[in-house]
Amino acid sequence: MKKLIIILTWMLMTPLFSCTDEFSRTKKPDGSLRIWAHSDLHLKTAIDWNIYKRDMMDIVTSASGIDAAIVAGDIGLNKKNSGFYCDMKSLSGIRYWFELAGNHDAENIQRYSAITKKPLHYSVSIGNLLIIFMSDEKMTHETDIPDDVFNWWKRLVEKNRDKILVTVTHGVLKGNGTPASLFSEMCIAGSDRFTGVLQKFPVDIWIHGHTHYPFFLKGRIFDGAINGVIFLDISSIRSKLFFPSTSYLIEFREGSGRVLVIPRVHFLKSWFAGTGSIYEMKKNFSWKGENPVIVPYKKSGTTPQMKLIH
Ligand SMILES: [Fe+2]
Repeated sequence: MKKLIIILTWMLMTPLFSCTDEFSRTKKPDGSLRIWAHSDLHLKTAIDWNIYKRDMMDIVTSASGIDAAIVAGDIGLNKKNSGFYCDMKSLSGIRYWFELAGNHDAENIQRYSAITKKPLHYSVSIGNLLIIFMSDEKMTHETDIPDDVFNWWKRLVEKNRDKILVTVTHGVLKGNGTPASLFSEMCIAGSDRFTGVLQKFPVDIWIHGHTHYPFFLKGRIFDGAINGVIFLDISSIRSKLFFPSTSYLIEFREGSGRVLVIPRVHFLKSWFAGTGSIYEMKKNFSWKGENPVIVPYKKSGTTPQMKLIH
């Protein structure tokens, strides 16, 4: 009940947003990097499959030249839908896919790893952008990230101050200022470990899923809570009553310190400029089009293997 009251209050506080296509997003600017960020597919029923296909087609036809997709967990892979998910990746024409495991994926990590071919925890370099992915290792509601993995993340954040830093997790960072951060089952267990580092070494953007909160909730994008970090709640690309399927386009532009973040509300086939915006980062983006480089997490004292993606 408490949760419902907070969500309804937040919705009432939210100004009315209008659909817009006032910005031309069909032509990708030269030298830019376009990322489609989405989460919580939960591919259980034929309806879920159809919605995912519909929304994937919607995004690739409304924003050309998407370079990469980020999937922040809870794909819900099983025997039946694994082939479908791989087919959708091929059909999208998006070259690079970066997934992490959510609590539902933790039910069958072997299948998740076999189908996505991703380590549970890894970093990706694209030009001077460093994206760090940390999976949920347990089936509990909270997102469980072991201390070893936290220490690896901390080292990367501290050592790469010259890069644009993005962190991706399934659950919410407690204290990030979004409505979901008020509920511990939505949050990363031991969030204080991370916020302590961010107070001194803020990352530019922190992306998470898991909440299934609707797009019109003010607070899906929030940058006022922890040292200027832009927190982006991208969940969920799945339709439920009052929870329309939503995903996000993130665009970095060559030589620019500004990043565009805008939600796509799929059933309306529209961008929602009122809830998206342009944010200032601490560095200018630079990318010469080289292939991304994946470096899997390795326990301290072991050597990670770099992998160039073609
Ligand atoms: Fe989840």
